[in-house]
Amino acid sequence: MSTPASRLPKKLAKSSTRSTDPHSLRFSLFLRTIATLATTRLRLSRLLSAPILRSKHKGAGFRTMTSSADVKFTTQIMPLRQSDITFNLSAAPLHPYDSPTLTIRPSETKDALDQASHYLNETTQPVAFPTETVYGLGADARKTESVRSIYAAKKRPADNPLIVHIGSLTQLRHLLRTSPTQNDKDLIPAIYHPLINKFWPGALTIVLPLPKPSPISTLVTAGQSTFAVRLPSHPLALALLLHSDCPLAAPSANASTRPSPTLASHVHTDLGSRIPFILDGGASNVGVESTVVNGLVSPPVVLRPGGVSVEEIKTVGGVWGDVVVHRPGRKDLEGVPQAPGMKYRHYSPSARVVLFENVPVTDIVRILDTPAKENVKNKKVGVMRTRTWSAPGAETALRELGASEVLDRSLGTDGEDISRGLFAVLRELDGEGCDMIFVEGVGEEDEGLAIMNRLRKAASETVVQA
Ligand code: TXA
Ligand code: MG
Repeated sequence: MSTPASRLPKKLAKSSTRSTDPHSLRFSLFLRTIATLATTRLRLSRLLSAPILRSKHKGAGFRTMTSSADVKFTTQIMPLRQSDITFNLSAAPLHPYDSPTLTIRPSETKDALDQASHYLNETTQPVAFPTETVYGLGADARKTESVRSIYAAKKRPADNPLIVHIGSLTQLRHLLRTSPTQNDKDLIPAIYHPLINKFWPGALTIVLPLPKPSPISTLVTAGQSTFAVRLPSHPLALALLLHSDCPLAAPSANASTRPSPTLASHVHTDLGSRIPFILDGGASNVGVESTVVNGLVSPPVVLRPGGVSVEEIKTVGGVWGDVVVHRPGRKDLEGVPQAPGMKYRHYSPSARVVLFENVPVTDIVRILDTPAKENVKNKKVGVMRTRTWSAPGAETALRELGASEVLDRSLGTDGEDISRGLFAVLRELDGEGCDMIFVEGVGEEDEGLAIMNRLRKAASETVVQA
C-alpha cells in the first residue's frame, strides 16, 4: 500500500535532519514534499484504477495472488476499530440519525475508511464491509458501472434487486427528492415513521416507491417500481456510509447461493481475488440478514423474515399490528409483490444439509428412511444442535447409522445465539469437509421464523415429525 498522507510529515522530518542550513532545509523539504506527494498520488491513483492490484496489505489478514483469467485482485483485508470513531447524533425531537456527523481520529481505521471511500468514489470496484446483520458488498447506488461490479463479483442473477444502505435520514431524503421545493416531511411515507423511530438504525429494510426521476441506478432495483432501503446500526457501516458520503447498494458479501458471511474471512473465502478490498470489523452480531417489509400494500407484508422479528414489528401497533408474512402458496397474498430474491437457491454449503423439524434426538435413527440411512454410512457428518438435542445423543445416533466421523457443534438454545452462529457454523462444518450436516430445527416464534427460513433454504432434505 502507498504511504498514507497522514504519515508523510514524520518521514520527511526524519530524513531532512542531515541538512544544517534552515533555508536549504525548508527548500529541500518543500521539494521532497512535492516529490513524495506526487509519487504517493501516482501510486494511489494506479492502485485505485489498475485492473490487477499488486499492493501489499498493511493489516492482519489474507492475500490472494493472481493465478487464472477469472482471478483479478490481490484482496486486502483492512482492520477497523470502533473506538477510533465518535458520532455526534441529532438532538431530539429529530431522529438521532437525521443528520449525524462523525469524527475519526488519525489511525489505521481512518486510513482504511479513506481508502474505502476512494474506491467507492473514484473507481467502479465494490468494497466489502461489516454490518450488524451480515457483511455487505457495497458500491455507490447511483453509479450503474459500480453496481454492475457487485453483480459480477457475486455472480448474482440480474433480476434480484439490491438493498440501498444509508447513514442518515438526510441521505435517504436526497434519494427521494425530485424537486428542491418538496417538503422534507413528506418525502418518507408516513406509514414507515413508527418503524423508523423504533428499529432504525437496525436490521429492518423498508420498501419505498422509486421516485421519478430517481438518482438510483436501475440495476439496483432490477427494473422494479420500488426500492429497498436500510439504515444499519453497525458503527463501522455507518462510518463508511457517512465518510464516503455514498448511499451504498449492498447485498450480502457472499458468492451467490452460499451462506451469508458474518466474518471478513468468510467474505475472503467467497470473493477473495474477485474484489480488491474488505473492511474487517469482527463478527456480525445478529448473524441473519435484515427483515424486509413492504408497507405500501394493505395489510403490510414481511417479504423476508430477518433480524427484527414479526412479533417486534407488531408491537408498533396500528396497521403494523396486522402485518402478515409472505409465504409461497399463500392464496390471500397472490398478486402482492414479493422479495424477488426469495425464489433463488440460497445459504447452501457444499455439504448435504438435512434439517430435522420437531424430531427428538432419540428418534433420529427410527425416523430416517432406508436411503437416508444408507447415505450416512462411512460419511463425515456435522451436527448443529439447538434447543433439545444432546451431544452424546446425536453422536450415538450417527455412529449407529455408520458415520465414520462426527463433528458436533451447539448453536446454543437462545434465539439470538442460534441466529448469530447459524451461517458461521454451516461454513465451518463445510470447511472441515463434512459430507452431510444434520441440523436440529426450532419453533417459528420470534427469531425462529428467520432461522427456519434460512435453514429450509440451506437444506437439501427436511425430516419432519408431526
Ligand atoms: O441484512 C441485510 O439485509 C444484508 C446486509 C448487507 O445489509 N443485505 C442483504 O442483501 O441481505 P441481499 O441482496 O442478500 O438481499 C436483499 C433482499 C433480496 O431478497 C431482494 O430480493 C430483496 O431484498 N429486495 C431488494 N429490493 C427489493 C424491492 N424493491 N422489493 C422487494 N424486495 C426487494
Ligand atoms: Mg444475500
